[in-house]
Amino acid sequence: MTNPSLLILPGDGIGQEVMAEVRKVIDWIGAKRGATFDVSEDLVGGAAYDKHGVPLADETMAKAQEVDAVLLGAVGGPAYDDLDFSVKPERGLLRLRKEMDLFANLRPAQCFDALADFSSLKKDLVSGLDIMIVRELTSGVYFGEPRGISEVDGQRVGVNTQRYTEAEIERGARAAFELAMKRDKKLCSMEKANVMESGILWRDVVTEVSKDYPEVELSHMYADNGAMQLVRAPKQFDVIYTDNLFGDILSDCAAMLTGSLGMLPSASLGAPMENGRPKAMYEPVHGSAPDIMGQGKANPCACILSFAMALRYSFDMGEEATRLETAVEKVLADGVRTGDLLNEEGVKPVSTSEMGDAVIAALD
Ligand code: NAI
Ligand code: MG
Repeated sequence: MTNPSLLILPGDGIGQEVMAEVRKVIDWIGAKRGATFDVSEDLVGGAAYDKHGVPLADETMAKAQEVDAVLLGAVGGPAYDDLDFSVKPERGLLRLRKEMDLFANLRPAQCFDALADFSSLKKDLVSGLDIMIVRELTSGVYFGEPRGISEVDGQRVGVNTQRYTEAEIERGARAAFELAMKRDKKLCSMEKANVMESGILWRDVVTEVSKDYPEVELSHMYADNGAMQLVRAPKQFDVIYTDNLFGDILSDCAAMLTGSLGMLPSASLGAPMENGRPKAMYEPVHGSAPDIMGQGKANPCACILSFAMALRYSFDMGEEATRLETAVEKVLADGVRTGDLLNEEGVKPVSTSEMGDAVIAALD
C-alpha cells in the first residue's frame, strides 16, 4: 500500500511560521504512530509570484490534483497589494478551490473550555460547544448569472443572481450528511424557503437526500432564525448545511463564539477520488498577519487543528485527530498562551515554536 500523500503550501507571512509547527506534528505521527506521509512542499500566493510571476504555477496545480490532501498556510501581504488583480496572491487560493472543485466548505466552531472567557457569549452557553457548518462553496449568488451593474431608465442597477441546481445542492448535502454520520447524527439545513425559490428547492433536495441517511435527524430552519439561534443557544446544533452566502455569514458568526482567529481551522472538500477519499484542502481561517509576521508571535493552533481535520476526513485517522485536538486542549488548559489568547496584563506569551513544542509534549 502506498503512503497517504500531502502537499504543503505554506504561502506567505505567518503561513510559513505556523506550518513549521505542523511539520513537528507530522514527524511525531511518523515516529510515534508509524504513519508515514509522502509530504511535498511548494509555493502559493506571493511566494509563488516572486519565483514564477504567477500566484500558483501549473505544476503546483497539477500536484494538488494528485495528492490525497493539500494543507495551505495563508496568502497575501502588503508587498503584493499593488499587483494586478489577475496575479494577486488570493488568485492562487481561488484557483485551487475552483480547479479542485471544492464545493463543501467545513467550518467547525468548537469551544475549548480554557478559552470560554474569550467568547462574546456567557461561558455556560459556549462551554463544550462543538458544531460544524458546511457551506456550499462553488455556486449560489456569488457566481450566478446575470450579474453586474448597468444603467436602466437613467439610474444604476446592481444585479446578482442566486441560482442553484439540484445537483449542486445534493452533492453538498451528501457531504454534510456524511459528516453528521461521523458526529452526533443531527443536521440542520438553513435557507429562506419562505421568500426564495432557491430555498424551496434547497429544502426539497436536502429532504430527498436525507432518505439515504435515516439515522441522521434532519431539521430545517430559516437562515435568519438560524443566526438568532446561533447566538442564543448554539449547543442545539451539530452539523449545519447552508448555501454560499448564508454560510459565509453564519460561519464567521459561529466562529467568533469560540474566541480567537488563531484557533480556527477549516476544510474544503470536493468529489471522491478513485481511492474513495474526497479531494480536499485544509487551511486555517486566518490570513498572513503581516503585523506579526517574522516575530514568532503567531498562534499555530489553527493550522495544527486544520491538519487534525485532514487526519479525520482525508486519512481515516480519526483517533489521531482526536488525540491531536485533545493535546491542543490540554496545552490551553495548562495555561500556555500565544499573544492572541491573552487579555490579562503580566502573563507572558509563548512563541509560535514554544506553542508547537507544548502540543508535541502533550501528544506524548
Ligand atoms: P489576518 O487574519 O491576517 O489578521 C487579522 C488579525 O488577526 C491581525 O491582527 C493578526 O495579527 C491576527 N492574527 C491572525 N492570525 C493569527 C494567528 N495565527 N495568531 C495570532 N494572531 C493572528 O487578516 P488581515 O490582516 O485582514 O489580512 C492580512 C493579509 O492576509 C491580507 O493580505 C489578506 O488579503 C490576507 N488574507 C489571507 C487569507 C487566506 O490566505 N486564507 C484570509 C484572510 C486574509
Ligand atoms: Mg467571510
